[in-house]
Amino acid sequence: MAVDRYGVMGYPVSQSRSPMIHRLFAKQTGQDMQYELLQVSPDKLEQAVRQFQRTGGKGLNITVPHKSEVTRLVDQLSERASTAGAVNTLTFREGEILGDNTDGFGLLRDLVVNLELALEGTRILVLGAGGATRGIIGPLLEMQPTSLLIANRTLGKAQALAEHFSRSGPVTACRFNAVPVQDDYDLVINATSAGVHGQTPPYPGAAISEQTICYDLSYGLKPTPFSAWAREQGAAQSLMGWGMLVEQAAESFRVWRDVRPDTAEILARMTISA
Ligand code: ATR
Repeated sequence: MAVDRYGVMGYPVSQSRSPMIHRLFAKQTGQDMQYELLQVSPDKLEQAVRQFQRTGGKGLNITVPHKSEVTRLVDQLSERASTAGAVNTLTFREGEILGDNTDGFGLLRDLVVNLELALEGTRILVLGAGGATRGIIGPLLEMQPTSLLIANRTLGKAQALAEHFSRSGPVTACRFNAVPVQDDYDLVINATSAGVHGQTPPYPGAAISEQTICYDLSYGLKPTPFSAWAREQGAAQSLMGWGMLVEQAAESFRVWRDVRPDTAEILARMTISA
């Protein structure tokens, strides 16, 4: 029998660590599978997904910039993918394409299990109001924070997200320069893509105290612009999204293979080599 095929589709995708992570998971759990890197431009997305399906592929991770667009190709969308409005995990089963999203789960697992943070009753500030933010608001609200404020350069996008999630919890919106800073924030999450372009926008420095934990969804071999900025502001901790990366991958792996890998071992290897 042919080896089960998986892969990650993105554009560009050469920097993706997913092949390495999934190969380590496969080795650790004794699963016979292969995992490919698939560079696919937006105009070829549908064709590439259908071809992968037609040729017997079992599952795909979908990354930037396709996460929202790929929802159109899915036959069944999981509840968490539907809430996020984006898909990062496709499963091909009995002629159907199932779409799931493990990003928010991955973040929460890193925060709550790996970093042992108790989020109930906390004040959370999320910077940015794009696709990444949309994927994490639902899972964050499930942790029952006292408040969740979305701050963004463009107010309208933050307001639209706050409105979208208003029935799930106490979520509000404002511009970066209007973040109320009379109370401390327990957790500040950077979900903007500014750092990817090497930029540090005027984030609200007064929102950071020595109690604040700062978490950048981005990660890098060197500190990201946000994580360096957070350290300069005197945050209690300034963390990058390595844990989220490995945990979202582990959840995709579980969805596909019904086995949960031990992420601690892999995460230690990733951050040591980082
Ligand atoms: P998406 O396609 O998911 O919306 P994006 O366009 O890269 O991704 O933007 C993601 C987030 O990063 C947005 O909140 C964006 O702010 P705007 O809504 O104002 O566009 C934010 N972002 C990206 N670059 C930024 C920068 N240089 N300064 C401030 N915010 C930035």
